[in-house]
Amino acid sequence: MAMSEELRLGVNIDHVATVRNARGSAYPDPVRAAKLAEAAGADGITAHLREDRRHIRDSDIDGLMAALTTPLNFEMAATEEMQAIALRHRPHAVCIVPEKREERTTEGGLDVAGDDNRLASFIAPLRAAGCRVSLFIGHEPAQIKAAARIGAEVIELHTGAYCDHHYAGDFAARDAELAALKEGATLAQALGLEVHAGHGLTFETVAPIAAIPELRELNIGHFLMAESLFVGMEAAIGEMRRLMEEARA
Ligand code: PXP
Repeated sequence: MAMSEELRLGVNIDHVATVRNARGSAYPDPVRAAKLAEAAGADGITAHLREDRRHIRDSDIDGLMAALTTPLNFEMAATEEMQAIALRHRPHAVCIVPEKREERTTEGGLDVAGDDNRLASFIAPLRAAGCRVSLFIGHEPAQIKAAARIGAEVIELHTGAYCDHHYAGDFAARDAELAALKEGATLAQALGLEVHAGHGLTFETVAPIAAIPELRELNIGHFLMAESLFVGMEAAIGEMRRLMEEARA
């Protein structure tokens, strides 16, 4: 059997900032967490500068850009303010996500098919500045085709529903979601897109996703930061990598 291609792990450090902001303190520092994540084997760091700055702040992005030795994947909403920040920093990758103020986390994928003209002109300057543009979408074929049409290089498939069904014990729905994610990954690769995935992944749910051969990167945050409270970042990230590699073998 041919060896699977490499699957990178991007570690999202947003929730280190959530803990800091809960008390308005200067600690814990998300940049320090990002450096530890790199030392523990992260291939890249992901941070989401939300419009309401509920976790990551502008100064964290300054600090990450200055300190990281691995690529920064900068997650942001498709707003003029965020576009200007991305163009100022020129991170390795920009992942465009939908954002609603009232949501607890990014609940659904971007509607690329319904907003293709605006998104095409939104991502053009980011691509011209040298950022790899990724769109965070569901597995619907119309969204994947629209992402390819408007010139994104990468899509990130939303694994939140797959994980939610798993933890709700609805395994039929989970498996249907997994099958749809696999079909989406195949379609995206056939259209020339690089395929990433993320949201809600844990030790229990990561293996079937990591085994999808078209995937090149997983972005994982909340669970890894939570697990790090108990075992430390090195052990948590090390175990996630081990599970990814095992699923891939
Ligand atoms: N990928 C994207 C596009 C996201 O918005 C998030 C959450 O910020 C993640 C991955 C990571 O999700 P989680 O923190 O649930 O692992």
